[in-house]
Amino acid sequence: MDKGQGLDDLVRQAAGLSDGERTAAMRILAAIAKGGREMASLLSSGPIRGLTGASGAVNVQGEEVQTFDEIAQEVFTRTLRDSGSVSLLVSEEREDPEVLGEGAFHVAMDPLDGSSNLAVSGPVGSIFCAYRPSSRKTGSPASDVLASVGTPVMAAYVLYSVSTLLVVSFGSEVRQYALESSRGEFLPIPGVVRFPENGGNIVSLNAGNSSRWREGDRHYLRSLEGRSYTARYVGALVMDFHRNLLKGGIYLYPGDLPKPGKEGGSGHPEGKLRLLYEAIPMAWIARAAGGEAVDGHRPILEVPPVHIHQRVPLVVGTASMVADYLRIVSSVS
Ligand code: AHG
Ligand code: MN
Ligand code: MN
Ligand code: MN
Repeated sequence: MDKGQGLDDLVRQAAGLSDGERTAAMRILAAIAKGGREMASLLSSGPIRGLTGASGAVNVQGEEVQTFDEIAQEVFTRTLRDSGSVSLLVSEEREDPEVLGEGAFHVAMDPLDGSSNLAVSGPVGSIFCAYRPSSRKTGSPASDVLASVGTPVMAAYVLYSVSTLLVVSFGSEVRQYALESSRGEFLPIPGVVRFPENGGNIVSLNAGNSSRWREGDRHYLRSLEGRSYTARYVGALVMDFHRNLLKGGIYLYPGDLPKPGKEGGSGHPEGKLRLLYEAIPMAWIARAAGGEAVDGHRPILEVPPVHIHQRVPLVVGTASMVADYLRIVSSVS
């Protein structure tokens, strides 16, 4: 019986890391765990302390920044800087990469995912991806990060829900840890995590945006009407992804038709989700758990990065459900 593997053991088992990278990966995971513990405590008392609203600022994404977006930004920037293992830090909440030091990896993060859930005490998360820097220096931090995007090394997310979970993968397997609050530690949950072998029937999408989708995506939505499936969509990628990972399912955030200036929805032809700190980490974890992630016609892990805040359509989950989506979408295009 797999009793679970501590975070340090998980790093020791990770293939293809130099000794220096192994040390850096352990320190980055410890920084994510430390920040996750702090965030779990702050989130639980957020409503009492009036922290669940908007900060009044607008971020580089054009989104209204929530107070907890900024809090998470400060918490994880501090713990990652203190790890001494991060070179450049890209965040959803900052226009440019931040130079944290001479660490072994670049890190891209979504410090708080699912911000619209904060005001209603819904589930939220934090998403991280560590990238191995390219030997080729480009002279600009943003281009240096983009040059490293082809070599993810570790992806992780923290889910703040009924439990506070840390889910991590170095590419070959996925393990999860639960915060044991009296000890303030993330303890291993036995077993590796894989999408259920018998497929899945949960579909997560915001049909309210479907009038702006491409014909193929609308055709996929129509195809669901004749089939038995379960609709679950909570407005936080980390929560929707994690439930579909354990129970079998697919999450879709398609791109809008290129009609700039449309009101509502993501208003983005390439969808709402960001490649470096949402789509790639979820694709990396999905692949390691036997699933798949595409941008509508090609694997997320093969999408050429052109901007650190690049958006991309995302379809991620059980491999057979993603294959079914691609078959249906290609039947109309
Ligand atoms: P973030 O809060 O980091 O900006 O991400 C929110 C994302 C994702 O977590 C979620 O699935 C999606 O936005 C929800 O978008 P809609 O509200 O447009 O459905
Ligand atoms: Mn946001
Ligand atoms: Mn997000
Ligand atoms: Mn976010």
